[in-house]
Amino acid sequence: MSAAGTTTHAAGGWRYDGVARAFHWLVVAMLIVQYSVALLLASFLPKSAEEALANWHFAMGSSVCVVMLARLAWRFTHAPPPPPADLSPGLRLLSRATHWTFYAGFIVLPVLGWAAASAHGIHVKLAGLIPLPMLGQKDNPIGKAMQTVHPALAVTLLALIALHIAGALYHAFVKRDEVLGRILPGRDAGVA
Ligand code: HEM
Ligand code: HEM
Repeated sequence: MSAAGTTTHAAGGWRYDGVARAFHWLVVAMLIVQYSVALLLASFLPKSAEEALANWHFAMGSSVCVVMLARLAWRFTHAPPPPPADLSPGLRLLSRATHWTFYAGFIVLPVLGWAAASAHGIHVKLAGLIPLPMLGQKDNPIGKAMQTVHPALAVTLLALIALHIAGALYHAFVKRDEVLGRILPGRDAGVA
């Protein structure tokens, strides 16, 4: 659906580059796992399963932070394609604000989770491999506050993801333009 009617564009120039597209879908996959595990953690589980899932949560969540930092570095050094010409200034602002909130949010959120874990007295390993120092002592007041702020921010970002997906689907099925094709995997039409 993406490439239909895009013949006016220079080959490749209308889409995000391959690395940016790969980063996008890698983070989507990681967040599907991360939010699913978080949801399971919120339910009643045997102690052993809870511990294993919590370790998954810390490992995957800290990996999201690292991947987002790399993705941000890529974004700063590789210009995205220009926005569709017919996009209204309001929607352009909304989509840019959403995208930058994702970058900031998914870098800051894991750090707040780390502070929350430290306040529980839990030692966290980056990606489940590299031991991290405690981010504050057990029961420190800031870390304890993060035990509320971290899940609240996670849910806020989830709502923003829903908005973002609704926007993508609106472009794909209502406006029927090329916006979704900018980020979908696959080779460029006309180049293949
Ligand atoms: C993108 C990354 C992350 C997302 C989307 C995320 C999401 C969530 C969500 C939705 C909850 C609430 C689950 C529940 O109610 O049981 C939660 C809880 C928690 N998360 Fe994360 N998290 C992320 C990263 C991390 C990281 C990296 C750590 C630690 C290093 C962490 C530590 C925690 C802790 C300790 C809690 C329980 C808070 C409490 O009740 O005390 N999170 N997370
Ligand atoms: C975990 C969920 C998601 C997150 C965190 C996320 C994040 C992002 C970010 C940060 C960008 C901007 C990239 C940049 O300019 O550097 C972006 C672009 C985009 N995303 Fe997502 N995304 C998610 C899921 C999805 C899904 C499921 C779809 C499709 C149904 C989608 C469709 C798009 C599209 C079409 C663009 C390009 C927008 C444009 O051309 O301006 N995203 N996404």
